[in-house]
Amino acid sequence: MSGPEISTLVHIIFGFLIAGAVLFQWRAVFPAVSSESGGDAVREAIRKRWAPIAQLGILVILVTGIYQFMVIGMPKADLQKEAELVGPSYHMLFGIKFLFAMGFFFIAAAMSGRSEALAKIREAGATWAGLVATLLVIGILVITRLLVLIPASG
Ligand code: HEM
Repeated sequence: MSGPEISTLVHIIFGFLIAGAVLFQWRAVFPAVSSESGGDAVREAIRKRWAPIAQLGILVILVTGIYQFMVIGMPKADLQKEAELVGPSYHMLFGIKFLFAMGFFFIAAAMSGRSEALAKIREAGATWAGLVATLLVIGILVITRLLVLIPASG
């Protein structure tokens, strides 16, 4: 496997795990824990274990994503321009994906963080925050599909 292929595989594995965990937190962990007595202690125990994995996952997705943009994305965007291919621009789609990913990472980090300023997002983990994060992931995957379909060679 080439460098970009390995990077893409690592990117997909970490994206899948972190996105799946946020869905699980939204629909299972937050609603179940908040309705139990002693919920705060259980929630803190889960948060402490999960936070380093979430942080590592976000870092790996970012590093592999930037690498892929340089070695796969930029040549595709150049080809699209040179060959005057029809369809949405690679740079525009990538820009939207990046913004969605930043929004998703912000909620995922807030859900497993300790900052007092982000306590409101943690409290909303079972409601809107989990829902927004899940919708952002769906948006990211739809846009990624469009990016992958843009040809890499003529
Ligand atoms: C939770 C966040 C993310 C998820 C779930 C995700 C998921 C994916 C998936 C499934 C692929 C498909 C690869 C393939 O089928 O060949 C991909 C490709 C890619 N991702 Fe991400 N990604 C995320 C965040 C990011 C970020 C933050 C960046 C940039 C910094 C990025 C840049 C890319 C690039 C450039 C590609 C290659 C697209 C192409 O083939 O033209 N991704 N991503």
